[in-house]
Amino acid sequence: MKENKKEMNAAIEALLNELTLDEKIRMIHGAEFFKSGGCERLGIPGVVSSDGPCGVRNDFYPNKWYVKGTSADFVSYLPSNSAIASTWNRELAHDSGMTLGREARGRGKDVILAPGINIKRNPLCGRNFEYLSEDPYLVAEMVVPLIQGVQENDVSACVKHFLCNNQEWDRHGVNVELDERTLREIYLPGFEAAVKRAKSWSLMGSYNLIRKEHGSESSQFLTDILRKEWKYDGCVFSDWSANYDSKSSGMSGLDIEMGIFDNFDEYYMGLPLKKLVESGEVPVEEIDKKVRNIIRLLLRVRKIEIEIKQGKSGKLSAKAVPAEDRDPGYYAGRVMAQHALEVARESVVLLKNEKKRLPLKPSAVKKILVIGDDANRMHANGGGSAEIKALYEITPLLGLAREYGGNTQVDYVPGYYVPKKFREEANWQEKSITESFSADVERRDDKKRKAEAKKKVKAYREEAVKLAAEYDDVIIFGGLDHDFDVEGADRKDMKLPYEQDALISAVLDVNPNAIVVMISGSPVDMSAWIDKAKALVWMSYNGMEGGTALAEVISGQICPSGKLAETWPVHYEDTPTAKLGDYPGKKLSAAEQKKIKGCRLTETYREGIFVGYRYYEKYNVPVQFAFGHGLSYVDFKYSAMEVKKSDKGISVSVKVTNSGVAAAKEAVQLYVGEKKVAEDNPVKELKGFDKIELLPGQTKTLKFELGDKDFSHFDIESASWKKMKGAMVISIGSASDDIRCKKEVTLK
Ligand code: BGC
Repeated sequence: MKENKKEMNAAIEALLNELTLDEKIRMIHGAEFFKSGGCERLGIPGVVSSDGPCGVRNDFYPNKWYVKGTSADFVSYLPSNSAIASTWNRELAHDSGMTLGREARGRGKDVILAPGINIKRNPLCGRNFEYLSEDPYLVAEMVVPLIQGVQENDVSACVKHFLCNNQEWDRHGVNVELDERTLREIYLPGFEAAVKRAKSWSLMGSYNLIRKEHGSESSQFLTDILRKEWKYDGCVFSDWSANYDSKSSGMSGLDIEMGIFDNFDEYYMGLPLKKLVESGEVPVEEIDKKVRNIIRLLLRVRKIEIEIKQGKSGKLSAKAVPAEDRDPGYYAGRVMAQHALEVARESVVLLKNEKKRLPLKPSAVKKILVIGDDANRMHANGGGSAEIKALYEITPLLGLAREYGGNTQVDYVPGYYVPKKFREEANWQEKSITESFSADVERRDDKKRKAEAKKKVKAYREEAVKLAAEYDDVIIFGGLDHDFDVEGADRKDMKLPYEQDALISAVLDVNPNAIVVMISGSPVDMSAWIDKAKALVWMSYNGMEGGTALAEVISGQICPSGKLAETWPVHYEDTPTAKLGDYPGKKLSAAEQKKIKGCRLTETYREGIFVGYRYYEKYNVPVQFAFGHGLSYVDFKYSAMEVKKSDKGISVSVKVTNSGVAAAKEAVQLYVGEKKVAEDNPVKELKGFDKIELLPGQTKTLKFELGDKDFSHFDIESASWKKMKGAMVISIGSASDDIRCKKEVTLK
């Protein structure tokens, strides 16, 4: 529904006029862990929020950081953002958002604290599984339909974490320094698209500092860029316990301060801010701005309407009343599972398939040996605030057993040993504010458990290797789990945990036909065995139907069509953060730390715009799998590429034919770069893509429109976008390293 801004603003103003300072202050900070304060006198409710990206999180007590633990908050487990991104399918991003929003509404929420869209700058970042891509264009294109889908349900998306929350290591204390071009070209575009194109009704600041200000109270980012430059009138949430100063918070574009501690009145935007208003240090107009945005959010999600009445004296009075016809939402329904399955199917990536080892047709298979804990593990209830209580989760093992049916014997052995977790700290979110630790299981292990584990590792491996030699068909699973893809911690390196390298290598030695499947939310180093593997499949945390989708791909029931949304380097040492950076950040001296409250480290983004494939291509660094890579069971032929000047800029068309014998989908990618690449520019950049479905023998023509911005770079000196000049190359292909046709155009 199109907003009538004038009418809405007038109503907001009328309601604002009724509020006292105390009431306003109550509205701009948490009153419960996932609810802000309201004003009962005027019928204004608090804003109810919940995490997160893979489904709606379990319900918490209002002021105790414990989940309620009833059976009323089982929900659909949806593919994580890293899975959604690897579909390269805007429609599926929309459907995922729509499902998430519907569930959030069904659970009575106003705001779902998703999607997370931070750039995958460093493969070690523990939260990469919650994020979309290393490429700002892909992020922007996928986040817009995702947010629109959420907001079709009278629920607000809350795009996060603004800005540069690209590592979890000391996420509260790390200050990010980056140049203006890098900021504009890499880190802002996703958020700008979320705010301007998708019209995300809310946004979350970050924990980290950027240019010496904390993200959740930053005048440079929340005020200057978001409010002034982008004219954002949505509601800005802090991350939970991310604020450090009442004045900065009060004066910034932040609207609601949320937190994980129950001293709600003492929050920076609680009583301490009220004092600053009373003493004149913070003008009341700053508080009014926040309250307006909160009321606007409540109107947008149709939680309230504003009733204005004229008294006998002619004086207007306003109050909020519950809006009629608000979408009631729905959750944990069958239709959601179907959406989750459709996304999951297209997100599975076939990385390698020598000698057409895959698919493994069920009719030809009598016995399969499945090896590896990740085949048998459920992931929904992990990862940090992205954890959810899944209605169900089809594991790969269940998916395979179902897909292959009763005529095929599917046997399973764990292969590698995953130590049992100690009871987790009750409030890890609190702990992560002051402590930094790497993602690992060992930090929770004592000597005795370590010795036991050693024995088990050996026994499990021996069992698996012995059996692998006896089976024709072996599928070995490995990768990560939410002890490693986790909020609040980064991985120490890209190596596979639990001694998986030794296991996979040994299995491939005795059974060179074994199919390898990696489950992870981020790249892993596979150099120890990858040359030996004929077939390799990757899947992220892929929702409740992930196991079904994977089995369908393995059996050939569907053709794989996922493509990597981030480069898979060979080793961590090859990455720009390892080569050029100070990751995890340079420690500040005690004197420096005193100058900026809560700042302990500085991380300079030295690689600049050369993030992901922009870096590997520029510096000719060999990678394991390139950005955009993903195979199919059929071949696609690309032909008849044409480039024409049009009114809007440049029109490009290309024909793609499915020359195989099965229906299949292909994500066709368009990249732009200079013919003679300038020293400070990338070789090429993604500027268009489309996912199409083709029947066997079918041909479709795809069209792309390129405008000035697609050929521009941000010029620091003039602080503006400058169009490149001269000969440009437009490339179309199946991956960034599999370009099928190219044309040149000359820009004046
Ligand atoms: C996370 C946010 C999350 C919030 C509420 C924070 O620790 O960084 O992404 O939405 O907690 O759980």
